[in-house]
Amino acid sequence: MSKTQENAFSIISTLLYVLLRLSIATSASPLNATALFVFGDSTVDPGNNIHIPTNARADHPPYGRNLPDHKPLGRYTNGKLATDFLSSRLGLKELLPPYLDPTLSDDELISGVSFASAAMGLDEMTCLRSKVMNISTQLGYFDEAVSRITKKLGSREASRIVGDAIYLVSAGTNDMLVNMYDLPTRRVDYTVSQYEDVLLQKVQSIIEVHPNLLSLVVSTSVL
Ligand SMILES: *[C@@H]1O[C@H](CO)[C@@H](O)[C@H](O)[C@H]1NC(C)=O
Ligand SMILES: *[C@@H]1O[C@H](CO)[C@@H](O)[C@H](O)[C@H]1NC(C)=O
Repeated sequence: MSKTQENAFSIISTLLYVLLRLSIATSASPLNATALFVFGDSTVDPGNNIHIPTNARADHPPYGRNLPDHKPLGRYTNGKLATDFLSSRLGLKELLPPYLDPTLSDDELISGVSFASAAMGLDEMTCLRSKVMNISTQLGYFDEAVSRITKKLGSREASRIVGDAIYLVSAGTNDMLVNMYDLPTRRVDYTVSQYEDVLLQKVQSIIEVHPNLLSLVVSTSVL
């Protein structure tokens, strides 16, 4: 790792730590989570992208070959994503489904889904390049999901589920890789540390606009 990459890693690890502490402090018990709601990029997209017109889709071998049915369902991995393991550890379900799956049932929705879109970033330029869902679109779908849960269970029970859920965002890797280290698109405007600040401000604005996501756990990773 270069010095700047180390700095980026350290800033982001600190943010992760602070938000993780916040999450533990504000939710009743992470182990008694009602649901898991996930936002972000390919690190946590279980297949939303195969339902939108983008080339960033893991719908072909070798993806998914170690899953029970050995099918490429849209995860950028041979098996489960970290969020599938988390969902399983929380006692919710073995595989966290993609929200855009048209066959998703209300019962599946209630224990959590992923709204993530592979190849997205916090910087709109990253999303436009691959025609994938930005964080605003993902949060819009979350609002739609809450309406659906409310319609099914009533507002009291829906509030309990949403309030005691765990929220996780994994984003930022594509911004750094694509716009900073691979193509020089943002390198002409920002130094690495300035661009980190831009990304961290985006995270902050997401939290400000969505105070219901108080137990947000952000894992903004930089390779
Ligand atoms: C989870 O909830 C159960 C029942 O409400 C309670 O007994 C248990 O202590 C809780 N677990 C944690 C880790 O808080
Ligand atoms: C997010 O994407 C939607 C749909 O492409 C677009 O209308 C919206 O302006 C984008 N939001 C931001 C903050 O760029």
